[in-house]
Amino acid sequence: MTFDLEKLAPGARYRILSSLVTPRPIAWITTQDREKRLNAAPFSFFNVFGSNPPIVAFAPGNKDALTPKDTARNIRQTQEFVVHLVNETLGELMVATSATLPHGESELKNLPLDTIPSESISVPRIAEAPVAMECTEHSTLEIGSNRLIIGIVHRVHVRDGLFDSHGYLIEGQYHPLGRMAAPDWYTRTDEQFEIPRPD
Ligand SMILES: Cc1cc2nc3c(=O)[nH]c(=O)nc-3n(C[C@H](O)[C@H](O)[C@H](O)COP(=O)(O)O)c2cc1C
Repeated sequence: MTFDLEKLAPGARYRILSSLVTPRPIAWITTQDREKRLNAAPFSFFNVFGSNPPIVAFAPGNKDALTPKDTARNIRQTQEFVVHLVNETLGELMVATSATLPHGESELKNLPLDTIPSESISVPRIAEAPVAMECTEHSTLEIGSNRLIIGIVHRVHVRDGLFDSHGYLIEGQYHPLGRMAAPDWYTRTDEQFEIPRPD
């Protein structure tokens, strides 16, 4: 089977690509607008792309041809965001924050989640997340109705018990969720194995 993406509608292209490029990490992102109104939403077109400087990128599609999603709009206004990583326990709450609410209304409002201040930026982070990365916008590429937002990571907060004193992840303690086939499939990540590299 071969798909000619130029002949398919964007929804069909999305289903094919997002179901095949899996599992994807999920960035659960908080932002604020100029009035400091909080926003939260998940994005699985996301990854880390380097450590010198430490960069992450994620891609919100526009709501329609001219309207960015609130996350992209807030970052355009304030250049700040927090990327949280999500474990299994937080899966349903993370998905709940993907609801489309009017601009300025917080997706965290009626959910059993707390926020705490960040250290290097003014956007607060979600207290329950096992990992939170304080970021500022480096640049944003606009490609059709996609935006690729590239951020510099300034602080990484990790829940106690995930790293040992040498800075290595302790096996079996971190269970990030992976995004699988469209629209609503996820995977657990607790069955891991090692493949040593050649010298
Ligand atoms: C697990 C998950 C991953 C998602 N990934 C993306 C993504 O990569 N890009 C995107 O535009 N929307 C993605 N969405 C949909 C957004 O979360 C949704 O449109 C949300 O309402 C955007 O919120 P905002 O307008 O507050 O930024 C995802 C939803 C879920 C549940």
